[in-house]
Amino acid sequence: MLLRMRYSVPADPARRPERHRRHLFGRRKGPKLSARQLQLRETLLPQLLLNPRKDRDPREYFANPVDDVWLEVGYGGGEHLLWQAKEHPNVGMIGAEPYVSGTAKLLSKLGTERVTNVRLYEDDARDIIDVLPDDSIGRFFILFPDPWHKTRHHKRRFIQNEMLDQIARILKPGAEFRFASDDAGYVAFALERLMAHAAFIWTALGPADWNTRPADWPPTRYETKELHGPPAFLRFVRTARTAP
Ligand SMILES: C[S@@+](CC[C@H](N)C(=O)[O-])C[C@H]1O[C@@H](n2cnc3c(N)ncnc32)[C@H](O)[C@@H]1O
Repeated sequence: MLLRMRYSVPADPARRPERHRRHLFGRRKGPKLSARQLQLRETLLPQLLLNPRKDRDPREYFANPVDDVWLEVGYGGGEHLLWQAKEHPNVGMIGAEPYVSGTAKLLSKLGTERVTNVRLYEDDARDIIDVLPDDSIGRFFILFPDPWHKTRHHKRRFIQNEMLDQIARILKPGAEFRFASDDAGYVAFALERLMAHAAFIWTALGPADWNTRPADWPPTRYETKELHGPPAFLRFVRTARTAP
């Protein structure tokens, strides 16, 4: 009799073989790094890198105690992430960004600041989201994600129903989910999915709530350099869990 071996893909991304890695859309490499940026990659980055572990309480990724952990997907040059980290020293900020030049920009700033509550993952944010425990994140940011304009590319957008299920799983009840985009098509796409999802409630009462930048939401690099239309600032609250 033939014994069939079933292979299951380890949930821990560090143990996942290369052939099981998901396709990451977008680029990793940008312009050549300066000598200073290369040096910071060698010296500072290893102290900040996070190795995602299945079900690990995300507060444990930080050397100093933190009360809560927030996650930013695609932090670009890290301007927003750093601002939040400095503004909320009791919160651990985890950022995921596969674009090496983005992290190089953030490292240049971190190299001159005394900030201990930042941890970085230089790869696909989905690796972190997959392994985070339920109810473990207090705030989630996805700011100006790649819009993938063509209809046939919409499946590449980060916001998909399955991803919203995952984000809802890791968010604590009452946690905030923030999304920004200057692409009206992506805003409509995200709103349609978020408003249909039982775990998210849109906090907006009127246009001023999405047309106006909230005071605790500093501009990102994309926003100051590449904006193609008026940005929408969307805030949702994760609903309380109902008994099964
Ligand atoms: C248009 S840029 C915006 C960057 C930044 N949020 C800003 O506003 O300046 C989108 C970023 O998302 C990153 N990104 C795309 N897919 C990602 C993923 N699966 N995980 C983490 N970051 C991702 C890209 O590398 C890119 O830097």
